[in-house]
Amino acid sequence: MIVVFLGPPGAGKGTQAKLISQELKLKHVSTGDMLRSAVEKQTPLGLKAKEYMDRGELVPDELVIAMVEEEVSQEENVILDGFPRTLQQAKALENMLSRYHRSVDKVFLFEIGDDYIVERLSGRRTCPKCGAVYHMKFNPPKEDEICDICGTKLIQREDDKEEVVRKRLEVYRKQTAELIDFYEKENKLIRLDARKSIEELHEEIKKALKDEC
Ligand code: AP5
Ligand code: ZN
Repeated sequence: MIVVFLGPPGAGKGTQAKLISQELKLKHVSTGDMLRSAVEKQTPLGLKAKEYMDRGELVPDELVIAMVEEEVSQEENVILDGFPRTLQQAKALENMLSRYHRSVDKVFLFEIGDDYIVERLSGRRTCPKCGAVYHMKFNPPKEDEICDICGTKLIQREDDKEEVVRKRLEVYRKQTAELIDFYEKENKLIRLDARKSIEELHEEIKKALKDEC
């Protein structure tokens, strides 16, 4: 089963993808996490991607598509978190899956207004070591600014600064929102009210997927 999580920055895609992938044994493929790791390791891809990510723009399609292809083609059950993000990426994904006589099965759309997004991104803290994601108000670590899992000091993502967040929202509306129509026409879209709590959303997604995995 191939599942896509679609929605604006900070809507909660990564949080839900982590929970669901552990529980239902799907592979979590986050293009954002993969790109951040490439930047940190200063790989050729990371060096190219950094300037786009710092500005809140999308990394060029061809770089992202090649990166996803390696991860997805052989996997049976996958959650794609943050991919596809352009029509070109959506079409490339269908092409790569059709070679294995497969297709995207379900697309969850995380719907949420800008006010919530700003609050969520300004309070987000992440663990630079294990990738765990927290929120200082909605999902705080047990000890102040320290990762529950590995004890590392939490950081704020560079692109969660206000002006970059504004750019990422604009990019979402201009380049990604058209995928809503694309998947709606294919009858694959499931709309979620992403303002709900982490637990409520988790139950809703699990219910929609449980019979299929
Ligand atoms: P990426 O890392 O994919 O960022 P994003 O899509 O902007 O999504 P976020 O990670 O910001 O948010 P999220 O929806 O996962 O929310 P989260 O669960 O963390 O991409 C970063 C950059 O990489 C892009 O700008 C681009 O440059 C590049 N890139 C990535 N993919 C690409 C692609 N396909 N093509 C081209 N370029 C690409 O939650 C946010 C906060 O809210 C957290 O603190 C969390 O604890 C909290 N929270 C979550 N759910 C709830 C809830 N229900 N209630 C209260 N708080 C909640
Ligand atoms: Zn950690």
